[in-house]
Amino acid sequence: MGGMIARGIRSLAGRPPPHLGAFASAPGGVRQPPCTAPSPIANIAGPSLPILSAPFMPYSASTDSQSHRFCTAPMIDVSDRHFRYLCRLMSRRARLYTEMITTGALLHGEPARWLSHHPAEQPLALQLGGSDPAELAACARLGEEWGCDEINLNCGCPSDRVQSGRFGACLMAEPALVADCVAAMVEAVRIPVTVKHRIGIDDQDEYEDLSRFVDQVAAAGCDTFIVHARKAWLQGLSPKENREIPPLNYERVFALKRDFPQLKIILNGGIRDLHSARAHLDSCDGVMLGREVAQNPFLLSQVDSLLFGEPGSSQERDDILRAYADYCAEQIEQGVALHHMARHALNLYHAQPGGRQFRRFLSEQLPKRKYDKELLLEALALCAA
Ligand SMILES: Cc1cc2nc3c(=O)[nH]c(=O)nc-3n(C[C@H](O)[C@H](O)[C@H](O)COP(=O)(O)O)c2cc1C
Repeated sequence: MGGMIARGIRSLAGRPPPHLGAFASAPGGVRQPPCTAPSPIANIAGPSLPILSAPFMPYSASTDSQSHRFCTAPMIDVSDRHFRYLCRLMSRRARLYTEMITTGALLHGEPARWLSHHPAEQPLALQLGGSDPAELAACARLGEEWGCDEINLNCGCPSDRVQSGRFGACLMAEPALVADCVAAMVEAVRIPVTVKHRIGIDDQDEYEDLSRFVDQVAAAGCDTFIVHARKAWLQGLSPKENREIPPLNYERVFALKRDFPQLKIILNGGIRDLHSARAHLDSCDGVMLGREVAQNPFLLSQVDSLLFGEPGSSQERDDILRAYADYCAEQIEQGVALHHMARHALNLYHAQPGGRQFRRFLSEQLPKRKYDKELLLEALALCAA
């Protein structure tokens, strides 16, 4: 896998992508838990998932005061480890979130399937779905053992399935339970425990309801709140509608920052470009983007320069695609089918000449050429022609 990164680096016109340089010399790979992991289930590797040997790479970004300045959102069926790797090729500084993983999936399923990741993905936050303090504490411990930098509790998802498990957005009605969950996780791990939530649910949508929730949860040991600036209706709207219909209210989120200056408050919802993201940073500590990153991932290539003041990246879309193709080739050798990875690159040429052709060609070919290492490069050549 070190070869993978090195090959990816070599393919960028002889220049290592600066942010992956640290991984270039190390034998990298999909991250496994430490062999000393105390959990009896932490060493189970799912048969479908190839695991390469990986050393632990120390990472200190979780203590960085700017650690949450730009985050990619947890998105079920989107923000898997391949998506996150693609994101990392474009931004060293973005904080990447896993999709929501339920405590049941980790404790009774295959933790390796959900928790294995490439060390380059870090800083990486594991988002948990659950409401049982002991189970959440056990899962937080697993996340820490597998090298995650943060544990995040989902208090924002309004789906029926999640509600029937008594977690997600409906937890906003139970701040005392959320506080118990947070306290149990804080007790279990040394990495930060954070919460992602809405500005309200149903009729509990006054600012006082929101600030009471934050106050109570903060007292249990959470100092970072990611706030989707829309309320959620628990009945009558689908999760998709709940991301579109309730109006955005950024001012509520900024008011939280004013009232709780000691907390990190991260704004989420409807942010479409990095210039407005940067403007929001005058009023809060960070921004989290979801759909825009999925629809236009190349936006990430400007994050480090525009939001962190680092030198601008000279990498083009083609460089990113070549590096990702190297990664895919490694993964194919390990038995991962290309479509699991290539689907995340379909929008890399969003709004570019040839972009539609690139997307169409891949969409047609992927079902037929599931383990073809050349397919992405072929699509690139076609798009450039
Ligand atoms: C396909 C999809 C899946 C999502 N899955 C999750 C999830 O697992 N956990 C979560 O907290 N939010 C989830 N969300 C919500 C996003 O994290 C985010 O809060 C929301 O999309 C608003 O941000 P945006 O306007 O930047 O997309 C999901 C959103 C989408 C579009």
